[in-house]
Amino acid sequence: MKLHGTSHINEKGHLTIGGCDTVELAAQFGTPLYVLDEQLIRERCRAYVAAFRQANVDFQVAYASKAMSTLAICRLIEEEGLALDVVSDGELYTALQAGFPPERIHFHGNNKSLAELTMALDANIGGIVVDNFTELHMLRTLASERQQHVHILLRLSPGVEAHTHAYIQTGQEDSKFGFDLASGQAAKAVEICQRSPEISLLGFHSHIGSQIFDVQGYRMTIRKLAQFSQECYESYGHVSEVVNIGGGFGIHYCEGDKPLTAERYIEAIVAEVRASFTHQPLPAIWIEPGRSIVGEAGTTLYRVGTEKRIPGIRHYVAVDGGMADNPRPALYQAKYAALVANKAGKPATQTVSIAGKCCESGDMLIWDVALPDLAQGDVLAVLSTGAYNYSMASNYNRLRRPAAVLVNDGNADVIVQRETFADLTRHDVIPARLQKPTTVSPEVADIK
Ligand code: LLP
Repeated sequence: MKLHGTSHINEKGHLTIGGCDTVELAAQFGTPLYVLDEQLIRERCRAYVAAFRQANVDFQVAYASKAMSTLAICRLIEEEGLALDVVSDGELYTALQAGFPPERIHFHGNNKSLAELTMALDANIGGIVVDNFTELHMLRTLASERQQHVHILLRLSPGVEAHTHAYIQTGQEDSKFGFDLASGQAAKAVEICQRSPEISLLGFHSHIGSQIFDVQGYRMTIRKLAQFSQECYESYGHVSEVVNIGGGFGIHYCEGDKPLTAERYIEAIVAEVRASFTHQPLPAIWIEPGRSIVGEAGTTLYRVGTEKRIPGIRHYVAVDGGMADNPRPALYQAKYAALVANKAGKPATQTVSIAGKCCESGDMLIWDVALPDLAQGDVLAVLSTGAYNYSMASNYNRLRRPAAVLVNDGNADVIVQRETFADLTRHDVIPARLQKPTTVSPEVADIK
C-alpha cells in the first residue's frame, strides 16, 4: 500500500496524517470526513514552481480550483504564490472572498454568462480564457462599453486525444471546448482579436484531458500550438507571449498508476516549447494543475456499517458515505485504494467490496479490495480523494455533505463544516397553498 505525503502508521497501528491519528479525527469530527494533508499540498505547489525555476523560463502555475475550491484552499494556494484558474462565478466568488489577488486569477469555461464576464471585469481579474465566438463577441462588446482593456487567451482544441477516460478527455476535435484548429476557427478568432483594440491576445491555451501519465500528448499539443502561433505571426504579426498547456498531470490512486513527477512533466514541456517556438522569443509557459496539487493530499474517512455476504459470489461491506461524497467511481469507473485506519498494521485476510449507502446498485466505492477482518465501527480510509470529491459532492438521498479538515503538524482545522439537517432544508420553500395550518417543526439534533 502506497501512502502519500505525511501519512504514516503509528505504534497503535493507526493511520496518521499530518501528525493526527485518523481514528481520533473520525471520532472528533464524525464521518465521512475529508482529511487534507497541508504539507503535501504545499509540496506539490513548490515542486512545479521549482521545476520551472530550474528550467529558467517565464512561467505561471495556476491551481485549477475546480479540483477543490474552498476559502482555506484559496489561502494556501495564494501563500504558495500560485495563480488560480476559476470556471464559474461561484469559484470566482470563493477566490475573491478569500482575498485572492484578482490579477492572479484567470477565468475558464465554455459558457460564461454575461453576468460572469461582468463579474470578472468588475473584479479586474488577470485574464479570461475565451472559449468560443459567442463569448468573444460578448467580451468585446462588454469591454468596449466599459472602456476596459481585457487580457485574454484563446482556448484551442488541438485535435489531440489524451489516453484517459473519454469523459475527462478534452483535446480531441469533437469536443465542446475551444476554437477548432483544423477548420480554421482559431485563425478567425485571432483575426477578430487583432481588430479589437479593447482586447490583448496574450496567446493560446489547450487542455487535453486529465489523469495523464505520459508527456506525448503535451508534446504534440505544444507542437500544434507553436505551429499555429507561427501562422499567426506570419499572417498578423501576432507574437504569443504565453502558451498555456492546461493541467491533467496524473496522480497515484491505486496500484498500476504510475504518474511522472512534476519535474519530469515540466522538463518535457519546457524542452518542447524551446524546440517548437523558434519563430519568436520564447513565450511564458503557463500550466493549470488541479488534481496533482490536491488529489493525493486527500483521504476520506468512513465508518464501516453493515455487511452482506453472498456465498461464492461477493462480500459487500457498506460505509456511511459513497457516491454523494465521491461520485467518481460511479461516473468514471475510477479506482481507489483503501485501508482500515484503526487496523492499518494488520494483514489482509479477505477480499471485500466497499458499498456506499445510497439507494443505487452503482453506488460502489471499491470493488474487490483486500482488507483485514472488518467490524462495524471500524474506520475505513479511502486514499487520494482530494481532487474532484468534495467539489463534485452532492446531497443525493438528502445526505449531508461531509466536513473537511486540514491537518498539519498534529493540528486539525476544520476548513469546511459538516452540513446540518437544517442546511438540507435551508432553501426549501413550502408554497402557501401547501402549508399545514399548524406546522410545528420538531427540533432534530444533528447526528455526527
Ligand atoms: N485546466 C482546464 C481547462 C481544465 O478543464 C481542467 C480540468 C484543468 C485545468 C485541471 O485538470 P487536472 O490537473 O485537475 O487534471 N471531474 C473529473 C475531472 C474533470 C477535469 C476537468 N478539467 C474527475 O473527477 O476526474
